[in-house]
Amino acid sequence: MTVTGQVSRARIAEIAAREEEAYRRRTPRSAELFARARQALPLGVASSFQAYDPYPLFMTDARGSRITDADGNEYIDFDMAFGVLAAGHSHPVLAEALQHRVANGTCYTFPVEDGVALAEEIKARFGADLVRFSNSGTEATMDAIRVARGYTGREKVIKMEGGYHGHHDDVLVSIQPPREAMGPLEQPATVPASAGIPRSRIAETVIAPYNEPEVLSAILDAHAGEIAAIILEPVQFNIGVVPPVEGYLERVRSLATEHGAVLIFDEVKTGVVLAWGGAYEHYGVQPDLFCLAKSIGGGIPIGAFGGRREVMAAIETLEGTPAYRADAAGAGVSRTTIPGGATRVAHLGTFNGNPLSMTAGLVTLTRILTRDAYPRLHAMAERLTAGLQRVLDEHGLPGYAINVGPKGCVMFTPQRVTNYRDFIGLDSELWGASFFYLANRGILLPPGPDDQWTLSVQHTDADVDRYVSTFSEFAAELSA
Ligand SMILES: Cc1ncc(COP(=O)(O)O)c(C=O)c1O
Repeated sequence: MTVTGQVSRARIAEIAAREEEAYRRRTPRSAELFARARQALPLGVASSFQAYDPYPLFMTDARGSRITDADGNEYIDFDMAFGVLAAGHSHPVLAEALQHRVANGTCYTFPVEDGVALAEEIKARFGADLVRFSNSGTEATMDAIRVARGYTGREKVIKMEGGYHGHHDDVLVSIQPPREAMGPLEQPATVPASAGIPRSRIAETVIAPYNEPEVLSAILDAHAGEIAAIILEPVQFNIGVVPPVEGYLERVRSLATEHGAVLIFDEVKTGVVLAWGGAYEHYGVQPDLFCLAKSIGGGIPIGAFGGRREVMAAIETLEGTPAYRADAAGAGVSRTTIPGGATRVAHLGTFNGNPLSMTAGLVTLTRILTRDAYPRLHAMAERLTAGLQRVLDEHGLPGYAINVGPKGCVMFTPQRVTNYRDFIGLDSELWGASFFYLANRGILLPPGPDDQWTLSVQHTDADVDRYVSTFSEFAAELSA
């Protein structure tokens, strides 16, 4: 029998099969809805991330830290909508404000004061000069990349292997590439994560390994004068939880400056969650542009990006940008060679800055995720991580518990993961057994080993302790 740490493969498979069977017994209504959904929606879901085997839970209600499925089973929600809900479900303050908003018009396509106030709040938190709104994280990273390209007059973008920045073509590459396709660490291949992405788009995306500053430096040298932007999550949150190694973000910052590339922090998951001022405050490294979404809306769709005036002002005019100056020097991209002779970067969207999202964002940031919310969030997260680690140690399970601020997970691998190539070694079978075991006992985690728990201001120590005690029962059964 193969043994992983103290656990046999046969025991993991036995528990996984038993728990999946129990999941099916507890959730017949979800199974029924899924069968119906398969007739109307590819994979039976609205976003492919929502699909998992044997079928996803269909949900009906959520409040605070609790969510209820279509069979009436209640869960303590540690998924929190892939990390959207640092404010918790339907926070009463937000619910009340939105009732008023819904009764007074939700879309004007004229600006509203709440949008100005929200931009001011984001500026203050992220040390930014200018901010624009969109409707999702995907739009935010897409728009930020376009601004960086317009500003620099360059076309190539560096993205980290294993990073996820939404579903537009430029960045839907090398998300979780198969080992045989990923190429050498020094020069990772650009591997499309979807069919339907033109080769010509992929040609502009260069891949670098996360947490490897010297490799990044060599890649920048190899593409001297060509890189418009380096985009990365300050903490890689789409391969579990992978924090930056000491000095990494600082080095990336200085390399970007040295090479005239716009540094974009994708703070869709980290922003207003890790700290009041996101990863920028947590790590003290300032990008040129940052992207936000998820938590800033308290559960209402929203996106935003912002940063330095000089770069963001490309939305007003290219005059004064490196792209424009290159024209005067008679070299490189010029104003006249910019397609259509464009004089600025377009940033558009019917729903951008709509009153519903703006009110949601403003109330969430100024009345719920206020500065005083963070110490308690951090303390709860430390308590959870310490509890989970204690269980892993007691039972000799192959894995470690980790968090950065109120986001964390159990990484089911004994080695510390520093980038995607280490993450591939994760024990997904063990993860699967734990997911169903916990779900069947009212502890809901994100349905994938690449995601992590998120705590909200509406979680309690009792919620956290219940997760730990249930995980402890799982560990005891595994090692029995
Ligand atoms: C880091 C990061 N960036 C961008 C996105 C895309 O955001 P959205 O799903 O709102 O388009 C995600 C979504 O999970 C994300 O985790």
